Amino acid sequence: MKIVSVINYKGGVGKTTVTANLSAELAWRGYKVLMIDLDPQTNLTFSFIRPDEWQNSLAETKTIKQAFDSLIDGSTFDINSLIVEPARVKQRLDGNGKLHLISSHLGLINVDLDLATLLAGANMKQSKKNFLKVHRRLADGIADIPSGEYDVVLIDCPPNFNIVTKTAIVASDYILVPTRPDFLSTLGIDYLIRNMNELVRDYNDYAEEGEDATAPIMPSTIGVLFNMIQERSEAPIQAQQTYISQLSRLGGLVIFDDYIKRNDTLFASAPEEGVPVVLKGTTGGTYKSVVDGLEAVASEFVDKIDL
Ligand SMILES: Nc1ncnc2c1ncn2[C@@H]1O[C@H](COP(=O)(O)OP(=O)(O)O)[C@@H](O)[C@H]1O
Ligand SMILES: [Mg+2]
Repeated sequence: MKIVSVINYKGGVGKTTVTANLSAELAWRGYKVLMIDLDPQTNLTFSFIRPDEWQNSLAETKTIKQAFDSLIDGSTFDINSLIVEPARVKQRLDGNGKLHLISSHLGLINVDLDLATLLAGANMKQSKKNFLKVHRRLADGIADIPSGEYDVVLIDCPPNFNIVTKTAIVASDYILVPTRPDFLSTLGIDYLIRNMNELVRDYNDYAEEGEDATAPIMPSTIGVLFNMIQERSEAPIQAQQTYISQLSRLGGLVIFDDYIKRNDTLFASAPEEGVPVVLKGTTGGTYKSVVDGLEAVASEFVDKIDL
């Protein structure tokens, strides 16, 4: 089972869109996929589940908030009990693969504060212990999923680098960074990578010592994926190409060859319908070219993580 975090500090770059469409396309191809919505904005959740259904049957007992609440109040918790199978996309998948979801909760926004308090241990030894316990929360939860249940887990991260986001990185084999081709969106990527490296260093320092010694982590950045590309003559327009080239010169960063095209109409209506753009079964010029792009991205992703 491969675990991938979809992450970027910046909001509105396409983290949720990428998570939803990649997951759905992979399921369509027969893979068993689990999505985890780690963003209190709950956009991924509501791209698959209707708000009233979430309120009535999930809000209280079946969201990822339970994983962190139980750490704070010491109650028992089983990640398997949080998993749901969204109905509308299931119908669209027509028996192919598997697409499951652990939904998020608005209240997750307060969890970071509680976790920060928990991290402040009385002495050095205690605080190292707490560091590992808190940062491993998601990893430990995922470890309780029976092997073979899923081929891949995609985690949709919030647009920050708080503790909850760090638990995703600690749990991950791979990091995928969606971005928009503009100055402000590409600006923070270098900084994000440096912060991730720092987290991995700190974690591994703590992990190798003492009676709680645990395996080191090695999440690898599989690449930057450009979203909202506008094309002219089947290539990104010049203004956007500038940012793509700039980022590729940054060094050490892999950039996906394929990208996601911009199409406001298509992407705006998808969440309400509960089926990601890539699975919407209609044909037609612009529509087809967007879907072809998404499929190419999915193929590149499969290659990059060797799925
Ligand atoms: N390729 C695209 N073309 C047009 N609109 C898009 C595209 N990708 C995402 N969007 C829209 O942009 C907004 C932000 O995308 P989202 O995936 O929610 O970003 P993030 O999760 O990084 O905050 C959403 O309204 C989404 O529908
Ligand atoms: Mg999002």
